[in-house]
Amino acid sequence: MSEKIVILDFGSQYTQVIARRVRECNVYSIIVPFNTPATELAGMKPSGIIMSGGPSSVYAADAPLPDKNIFSLGVPMMGVCYGVQIFAHFLGGRVEKWQKREYGKGTLTVVDRTCVLFRDLPEQLQVWNSHGDKITRLPKDFVVVGTTENSDYAAMENRQKKLFGIQFHPEVVHTPRGREIYSNFVHNICGCGKSWTMRNYLEQSVEEIRAQVGTEKVILGLSGGVDSSVAAALLHKAIGDQLTCIFVNNGVLRAHEAEVVQQVFGKNFRIKLLYEDASKLFLSRLKGVTDPERKRKIIGKTFIEVFQAATKRAGKAKFLAQGTLYPDVIESVPIGGNPAALIKSHHNVGGLPKKMKFKLVEPLKCLFKDEVRLLGQELGVPREIVWRQPFPGPGLAVRILGEVTPSRCEILRNADAIVVEEMKSSGWYYKIWQSFAVLLPVRSVGVMGDERTYEYTIAIRAVESQDGMTADWVKLPYDLLEKLASRIINEVKGVNRCVFDITSKPPGTIEWE
Ligand code: XMP
Repeated sequence: MSEKIVILDFGSQYTQVIARRVRECNVYSIIVPFNTPATELAGMKPSGIIMSGGPSSVYAADAPLPDKNIFSLGVPMMGVCYGVQIFAHFLGGRVEKWQKREYGKGTLTVVDRTCVLFRDLPEQLQVWNSHGDKITRLPKDFVVVGTTENSDYAAMENRQKKLFGIQFHPEVVHTPRGREIYSNFVHNICGCGKSWTMRNYLEQSVEEIRAQVGTEKVILGLSGGVDSSVAAALLHKAIGDQLTCIFVNNGVLRAHEAEVVQQVFGKNFRIKLLYEDASKLFLSRLKGVTDPERKRKIIGKTFIEVFQAATKRAGKAKFLAQGTLYPDVIESVPIGGNPAALIKSHHNVGGLPKKMKFKLVEPLKCLFKDEVRLLGQELGVPREIVWRQPFPGPGLAVRILGEVTPSRCEILRNADAIVVEEMKSSGWYYKIWQSFAVLLPVRSVGVMGDERTYEYTIAIRAVESQDGMTADWVKLPYDLLEKLASRIINEVKGVNRCVFDITSKPPGTIEWE
């Protein structure tokens, strides 16, 4: 991508959100560590630089600070929250610790309506603040362009040098017109066009894949999830029959999963698909196992074995394709007080061993999840797959508490299918992060007709989340809960009780194991 905005990451939990907001303006953005040398930044030829927020204080001994030569690059820059304090720190202003942290909603008054950052925006804007330090003297050659109730220096600019600083966070939803602020920065200040679209990406990426792969063969582990599905469709478009997908049935898939994948990718897309039904092997190894970590390990290890054997049968391939996404490859420097910087994808049971002698093709590695979905749409992957909720690698095994047996799998699969069906028909499925059933290992007494029953309990879980790291339980309407419970109890043999999980994360996790 010739035009790009570079975001210096000072450890804010919102850095990736900034990158996404810029991309939503159809401008490519990348995130780099805060200490990237200015010469390296210059080499990236950015149209603009954004300095993110961060948890530190600029005057702390170990404060993350950028290479001071970035101010001589002559590139438009925007500092957000901690980023604006960097301006103050380096360019002759002053930052002080304040008695009171400014946190939450505020109202910005734009005092200079000629500032391009606020072009076409009203004089008063709702904004979101989250900072402890405060600027008490403007950096040299800056003027105030916006104030809030608590800050006389909420927004500032050095118009001549195209440097802009804002104390609040335009990237979060609580700054409802924040997107327009980013749009003004990238289009009207940095002069970027609108070249970042998934249609352009598709064309470019097809060329890149062809150039990388040549006439060699590529193998892809297709799970039926969004990422591997979109990767499969993209690679197939680029290299057709040079691609072979391997789909492993591990015995703990959802209802109809194997059929849907074979129908969509094998029949409709006509992708070469090796279907490996290893369900018996997986279930035999899971026999008698109740410890959640052991279940995960067994499934992970067995998957690798089955997959490796299948790759041999698929014929000699030089490349292995993976649906790695951008958040997995962003380089980050851990910053004091912000453990989030260190947490990467914490469940990588599907990861294949490095010793497998393939070269990697990772055609999604500069995309965010929402972009992968758009790309999937562009490629004609059905909505049912493109917008599906996340599903854990170890499948239903981590939703069957206690031992995983074929009959328990059957019970959970049937209950889960009802949850999916009702969530879809009520419109909730696509609005939330995840919704599913969990089979508890306890049995309780009930009555059905005239008979006493003694059967299992299903827990229904529905959560809202941005990235799976934290989550809130969803307040599903009572009539939907009632329908779910009554259908599950009436239709799923072996279940006589339903409960609804009202635990958020933290302290709970999303999955039960
Ligand atoms: P937890 O249960 O840790 O889950 O709150 C967070 C998110 O990760 C998903 N998850 C997994 N995904 N392999 C995966 O690919 C796994 O082993 C795994 N375990 C949990 C979970 O569904 C949720 O979206």
